[in-house]
Amino acid sequence: MMDQYRVFGNPIKHSRSPFIHHSFAKQTSQQLNYQSELIALDDFEIKVTQFAAQGGKGANITVPFKEQAYDLCNELSQSALSAGAVNTLTFKNNKIYGDNTDGLGLVQDLLRQHVKLKGSRILLLGAGGAAKGVILPLLEQNPISIAVANRTVSRAKDLCKQFNDKKIDGYGFEQINKNEFDIIINATSASLDNKIPKISIQLIKPNVVCYDMVYAKKMTPFLSWAKEHGSVHLIDGLGMLVGQASESFAIWRNVKPEVEPVIESLRASILAE
Ligand code: ATR
Repeated sequence: MMDQYRVFGNPIKHSRSPFIHHSFAKQTSQQLNYQSELIALDDFEIKVTQFAAQGGKGANITVPFKEQAYDLCNELSQSALSAGAVNTLTFKNNKIYGDNTDGLGLVQDLLRQHVKLKGSRILLLGAGGAAKGVILPLLEQNPISIAVANRTVSRAKDLCKQFNDKKIDGYGFEQINKNEFDIIINATSASLDNKIPKISIQLIKPNVVCYDMVYAKKMTPFLSWAKEHGSVHLIDGLGMLVGQASESFAIWRNVKPEVEPVIESLRASILAE
């Protein structure tokens, strides 16, 4: 039987992960089967352990199970520990290994698009799980600073304290309006409600890179807003999605696939829908 993989989440219907992983498998001549599976909110542990017991090799974990996945692991990577969440499970030697490739996916995508992270001033919007997961990989790229700005200021401050690094500090949206940034990353879930974080238009300048961790067929609200106010360097989260998948694939299969052709074909298929 072919090696079996899953992505578990709720909702999961629109997951692009099976498409991405089958594309990687084809590209690297690997034999594997990767399916998405909806899990009821109370069934996470039982479903995952069942899949492992049946010989499943690995699984990606998405909303809302990444913290539960963390709790289930016997061993955690540095990135999983720092994120406090797991998006990649590997079942091996009767153990569950947990990793988090989201942050690497983001960094990989920024570097692929020639965004200079070393020496940059980064503004990270949001202080939830999505923001937390990318902080360590961003810090490892040696930026000058990472300002974490959040609607609820205390959450940003608490998050930054966990990293114990003087390059990173937490703020409210109104406290950063006069600052200068090179890169603004939207890690809030505001887009899901068709909203944008209330930051000042003064922060948007032509040379500022605006990155949204989410993607959609049409431009995300945050990127549309940034474009309207003069930003020309706009990136959505599709490359991050494929990037995190490529890191998971490499953990499982020991070969690193090329992301570029898969990003292109995924973009084309989304536009054609
Ligand atoms: P996730 O795992 O996607 O990060 P989360 O932990 O629920 O989800 O965090 C959501 C983040 O989006 C938070 O930073 C939240 O801000 P608060 O901490 O103030 O709630 C942010 N967020 C959600 N809706 C927002 C909005 N309309 N404007 C600004 N920030 C928003």
